[in-house]
Amino acid sequence: MDWNMLVPRPRRVETAEGRFRLPEVFRCHAETEGSLAALQAAMDFVGYPIRPVSRASEAHIRLRHRALQSDYYSMEIPPDGPIEVQVDSEHGTEGAASAAWILAAGIVAAGATRKKAANAEHTEPAAEANASGSRDLPAARISDGPRHVWRGVMVDSARQFFPLPVLKRFIDLAALHRLNVFHWHLTDDQGWRFESRTYPRLTEIGAWRDDNTANYAREGGYYSQGEMQEIDRYARVRGIRIVPEIDIPGHVRAALAAYPNLSCRRTELAVPRRFGIFEDVLCVGNVEVHRFLESIFSEVAEVFSGDLVHIGGDECPTSRWQECPRCTERLRVNSATDYTTLHADALRIASRALAAAGKRPVCWDEALDSAPPEEAIIMCWRNPQAAARALELDHEVVLCPTDRACYFDHAHTSDPNEPGRIGVCSVEDVAEFAPESHVPEDRAHRLLGAQGNLWTEGLPFGKWLEYMAFPRLAMLADTLWLRSEEVAGAGERGPRIRAHAERLADIGVNVYRGPYSEVSS
Ligand code: ACM
Ligand code: ZN
Repeated sequence: MDWNMLVPRPRRVETAEGRFRLPEVFRCHAETEGSLAALQAAMDFVGYPIRPVSRASEAHIRLRHRALQSDYYSMEIPPDGPIEVQVDSEHGTEGAASAAWILAAGIVAAGATRKKAANAEHTEPAAEANASGSRDLPAARISDGPRHVWRGVMVDSARQFFPLPVLKRFIDLAALHRLNVFHWHLTDDQGWRFESRTYPRLTEIGAWRDDNTANYAREGGYYSQGEMQEIDRYARVRGIRIVPEIDIPGHVRAALAAYPNLSCRRTELAVPRRFGIFEDVLCVGNVEVHRFLESIFSEVAEVFSGDLVHIGGDECPTSRWQECPRCTERLRVNSATDYTTLHADALRIASRALAAAGKRPVCWDEALDSAPPEEAIIMCWRNPQAAARALELDHEVVLCPTDRACYFDHAHTSDPNEPGRIGVCSVEDVAEFAPESHVPEDRAHRLLGAQGNLWTEGLPFGKWLEYMAFPRLAMLADTLWLRSEEVAGAGERGPRIRAHAERLADIGVNVYRGPYSEVSS
């Protein structure tokens, strides 16, 4: 095992003589509850129990919080132990989680996991049967911290409903790659998954769609507020913030099925089975819709602990607004002529509700077509040029361009046997994605990072999510962790990612095994 072969690669590794023998149970001395919990979560993933001890001298591993210059953590692994971890005070749980999950990644790479692979009914037990497992780690000194503060993945739980254990497993895998944002797409045309106390029909009606293809009367599901808080806590302990998304004012057919009066035509509509863009959207000329937005976004702000909430804004046709007396009247009263101003109105109403709860909005780059909420983070998906426009307006930016290797619902290759929709995005395409190259140099400090998006129109199972995510998401995580000058070309990273993919397979991840590019096939 070589610490430099991990994905993401740690920034600085000094190797030393000797090996640290892994104990059956990690006796642990941690300065804070948060860092103890972070370590516990990571060691649980690889099957090493933690026992907290009050005397540092008895510990196999010690976590302390210090002000570190630019790193998130430093870790010394001497042959005789104990492992000494310094966590940067400013980065708290995220710093501790980074250190804890590097250790977990090292244990995975050493073939020393002691836990049966998750979803074990589908896979062989991992290290219990792994004869090459060494149960020790090479001595080293690591100091490390990420280049980008937004290292994310988006999972669409609207097109497909994923049960909690699937999400937790996926969050573990995100943490293993030291990602720190889980963007949770909770509502869309085909399903509303967020339990609302004030609008209960959203999930009574909007969480379900007819399923006449699979012998069930309906399919779907939703998350109770308690379940969403459970996921929030689960992620937080792993250094990951949840950015929940309620997508408005378009992509709301499930909500309109529950509350037809929120649409312009006010007609009964079913939760659709087909995918795409729908003309029926929220009637922004209706004050009932304003109350709806205020109420839902206040609830979302209460359920989730993070300070960011995604308010959507993508793919919203204006055709219904143009035919609607209420929407047309609103335009007239505001002395506006362009119907996209109603789009801006909806986003602003949502943003105000968030601001009242001390939170900030994130929105898709369509917000730039009108007037985006001032404080919004803009998520650029249509093309990377949107980033330059957002930066001109002085917004912070997250990149996930659909044409540049961030849409992991696209197929790995054009082989017709490969699952995926709309396009092809190879592992090498992801390797070539250089976030900084899409923003002017003098604005680079407003680029927060990037994320991979897993839309799930064609992905009904957690195992399929893994297949589409890995190793592309691992490659992206590597890009986002390192400085651009530290990221070598696809050639150098190929073997490292390939070895990493084999390790993921060892622990039961349904990882795509290649080919990694179109050209070589
Ligand atoms: C999107 O892909 N509609 C953001
Ligand atoms: Zn209307």
